[in-house]
Amino acid sequence: MARLLFYFSFICSSMLWSKANSDQRYSLETRYAEVPVTHFEWLSQMKTFKLRYLVNAKNFERTGPIFVYVGGKGDISVYAQNSGFIFDISKTFNAMIVFIEHRYYGQSLPFTNESFSLDNLKYLTTREVLADVMLVVNLLKKSTYDNAFATETPPIVAFGSGYSGALAAWLRMKFPYMFLGAVASSAPMAFGSSVQNCECFYDVVTKSYEKFGSEQCVKTIKLGWDVVINLARSKLGLDFISSTWKLCRRLSSTDDVERLLEWLSNIYIRLSLSNYHYPTEYFRSLPAFPLKVFCDKLTTSFFNDTRGLIEFFGQALQVYTNYSGKAACNEFEELSDYVFNYQQCTELVMPKCSIDSDMFINKPWNYKNFSMECKNRFGISNPNEDWITLFYGGRNLKYYSNIVFGRGDMDAYGCYGINGNVSSTIWTLDVADGPHHAEMRNWDVSDNNYIILARKTYVQAIKNWLNMFP
Ligand SMILES: *[C@@H]1O[C@H](CO)[C@@H](O)[C@H](O)[C@H]1NC(C)=O
Ligand SMILES: *[C@@H]1O[C@H](CO)[C@@H](O)[C@H](O)[C@H]1NC(C)=O
Ligand SMILES: *[C@@H]1O[C@H](CO)[C@@H](O)[C@H](O)[C@H]1NC(C)=O
Ligand SMILES: *[C@@H]1O[C@H](CO)[C@@H](O)[C@H](O)[C@H]1NC(C)=O
Ligand SMILES: *[C@@H]1O[C@H](CO)[C@@H](O)[C@H](O)[C@H]1NC(C)=O
Repeated sequence: MARLLFYFSFICSSMLWSKANSDQRYSLETRYAEVPVTHFEWLSQMKTFKLRYLVNAKNFERTGPIFVYVGGKGDISVYAQNSGFIFDISKTFNAMIVFIEHRYYGQSLPFTNESFSLDNLKYLTTREVLADVMLVVNLLKKSTYDNAFATETPPIVAFGSGYSGALAAWLRMKFPYMFLGAVASSAPMAFGSSVQNCECFYDVVTKSYEKFGSEQCVKTIKLGWDVVINLARSKLGLDFISSTWKLCRRLSSTDDVERLLEWLSNIYIRLSLSNYHYPTEYFRSLPAFPLKVFCDKLTTSFFNDTRGLIEFFGQALQVYTNYSGKAACNEFEELSDYVFNYQQCTELVMPKCSIDSDMFINKPWNYKNFSMECKNRFGISNPNEDWITLFYGGRNLKYYSNIVFGRGDMDAYGCYGINGNVSSTIWTLDVADGPHHAEMRNWDVSDNNYIILARKTYVQAIKNWLNMFP
C-alpha cells in the first residue's frame, strides 16, 4: 500500500527562490572540503568525500563575525538564494557569509551516485552533519587566521530555517565555544514521542486556507476527497480523472489512487507553506499569495455535478502545477524527499494526524503503522522516537543561551517549534500571518510589519551576543 506516503508530507523550507538572486550581493564562491564519511569510527576516517560550501566575503572585515548557514534537506544553492536576510544584514555586521551543504543532498554525496542504498545511508545522521559543519568552519578559520583556535578569532553565528534551523540551534547548544548564537527560523525542535499534538500540522494548514482562502474553499476541498475516491471506484472514473487532470500516467490501481491523494495533500500543504506576499519560485513559479489564487479559482467556479467539480479542481491545481504554462503533464507519482523520508524513518520522527475538523482525509497517528511503512519503504523499522529529544533536549532549552527562533503562525512546522520566550537569551518571535520562514527571505517593499519586526529583533539579538563577546 502506498499509505506510507501520507506520513511524509513535504517539508518545504528549502526550495523557495529569491527574486533578487541575480543581485551582486548574493554572489557566492563555491568551494569543497574533504570530509570523512564518518567522523565517529577511527578507521573509516580515511575514506572522505567532497562537501560543498559557498562563501561570500564581500563585506567581511577581519573583526567581523562569520555567519554560517547550515544547509538542510536540499541543494545548498537553493537555500542561499532564499535566505536574502543574511545578505541584507551582512554589511551592517561586516560579516562573512558561508552556506554549508548537508551531506546526502545536492552535490555532497558521500558515495557519489551510490549514496542512497540502505547500507550507504548509514552515515546520514544529525551527529555526522553537525561534525561536518564544525570541520568546515574550522577549515575556514584556519585559512583566515594564523591560529584557528585562538580565542580572539571572530565570533560565529549559526543560521538555518526549517529542519536546518534545528541544526543551527543544536550547533549552538552542542558547541557554544564555536557558535556564539543561533538564528533559527521555523525550526522544528520537538520530535517523536515528545510531540503531543499530532493534529496541529493539518490544523494550521486548514487555518491558513480559512484565513487566506475562504470557508467555501475549505468545504470544496473536503468535498473533493469523496468525489475523487468515489470516481476512482470505476475504470471510467479513473480515466476521467487521468485525462481531466492531464496525469502523465493513467491511474490504474488502488496504489495509484493513494498516490494521487497524497499528491493532492502535498500540493495543499505546499501552497500553504509558500503563501508569500510576492511571487516566488518553488520548484516552479508561484504567484503572490498562491493559496488565495487557488481558492479563488476553486470557489468562483460553478459546477453542477462531480465531473464539473473535477474539471474545476484541475484548473485550480494549475496554480501550483502549471503556473509557468510549461507543464506537459502532471507527475502525480513525483515523490518528494526520498532522503529526508529516510531521516524521518530513523531520527526525525514527526508525528502528524488528521481529524474531522481539518480539511484532510482522516488519518490517526500510529507509531507501529508508521514503523511498518518505514520497513516497507526502506527496509528499516523502529524509527527512534526518543533519540532527538534525548540527545538534544527537545523543547527543554532552559540550560542553553543565545538562540532566537522565528515562527510564523500560518506555518504548519511551527507546531514543532518553541512556544514563547524561554529565558533572557532564548527568544521566540511570533510572525503573525507568516508562512514558512518568511522573515529569512530577502527584504521586499511589500513586507508586513511583523516580518520587519522579526528581522529587527534578529539583528538586535545578534548585536547583544556580539556585545557579550570580549
Ligand atoms: C554510478 O556510476 C558508475 C560510473 O559512472 C556506474 O558504473 C554505476 O553503474 C553507477 N551506479 C548507479 C547505482 O547508478
Ligand atoms: C452541467 O453543466 C454542463 C455545462 O456546464 C452541462 O453540459 C451538463 O449537462 C450539466 N449537467 C447536469 C446534470 O445538469
Ligand atoms: C499548462 O498550461 C498550458 C498553457 O495554458 C497548457 O497548454 C497545458 O496543457 C497545461 N498543462 C497542464 C499539465 O495542465
Ligand atoms: C494500522 O494498520 C492496520 C493494518 O493496516 C489498520 O487496520 C489500522 O487501522 C491502522 N491503525 C491506525 C491507527 O492507523
Ligand atoms: C521574546 O522576547 C523578545 C525580546 O524581548 C521580544 O521581542 C519577543 O516579542 C518576545 N516573544 C514573545 C513570544 O513574547
